[in-house]
Amino acid sequence: MQQQNTLFIGKVLLHHEELPSTNTYAQELIAKSKPIEGTVISTFRQPQGRGQVGSKWESEPDKNLTLSIILYPDFLPPQQNFALNKAVALAVRHFIAELVQLQPVWIKWPNDIYVGTRKICGILIQNSLNRTTLASTIVGIGVNVNQTIFSKDIPNPSSLQLENGKEYDLPTLIPLLCHHVEAMYLRLKSGQFANLDAEYLQHLYRYQQPTLFQRSNGEVFWGSISGISETGKLLIRVEEGGEEAFELKQVSISGF
Ligand code: BTN
Repeated sequence: MQQQNTLFIGKVLLHHEELPSTNTYAQELIAKSKPIEGTVISTFRQPQGRGQVGSKWESEPDKNLTLSIILYPDFLPPQQNFALNKAVALAVRHFIAELVQLQPVWIKWPNDIYVGTRKICGILIQNSLNRTTLASTIVGIGVNVNQTIFSKDIPNPSSLQLENGKEYDLPTLIPLLCHHVEAMYLRLKSGQFANLDAEYLQHLYRYQQPTLFQRSNGEVFWGSISGISETGKLLIRVEEGGEEAFELKQVSISGF
């Protein structure tokens, strides 16, 4: 693993012994002092980690990376905010793929990172809007690194240690993760949306594969992921006919 230098992401690194949630802390910081773009808030002890749609992110103390990156993507209109989601998911996928070389590394829509069929990383992106652009974005990333035992409530978890059989030094992983996020963010900023779209689909878990899905009301159906809408909805070609668009939590892959 090479030491990575970045232009702005992680140049300011605010590491805390413990924080309830790095995303919550980042929100407070933005409200108070508008820190410079690329500021990273990290901790290895996060007892109240936040996950997507109000869920919790559990992380054993001193075992994993939990950090938030503050960005000001004022070049993006709010309706294109999923482009940022794609760029970040691809960046974190690259980071994991650099470390886990024996297994395929997937993006499970919208932005979970999977090694094979196991979740190794979760991302929580929180945007605040101006009238015409995104004003600030907090990119919260939780990577399971040295944790090997997980609560039974977490379906199919993994970690770098479980995948590679070795322990990692947490602080040295931060610059590598920042490097990947910065590279993708700069590509997004320079307007390479089309490439990002194609790359996102290339690495999307179960893309164009016959899959058993479950609706939030419990009903199951066969279909295959056919794409992602402009606004980031998951498009599924349903085996019984037609294409449907789903928001997060309206559908899941059966068994996950
Ligand atoms: C998910 O998969 O539900 C998203 C999990 C995101 C967890 C990260 S850990 C760092 C940052 N701070 C938080 O409170 N949550 C995110």
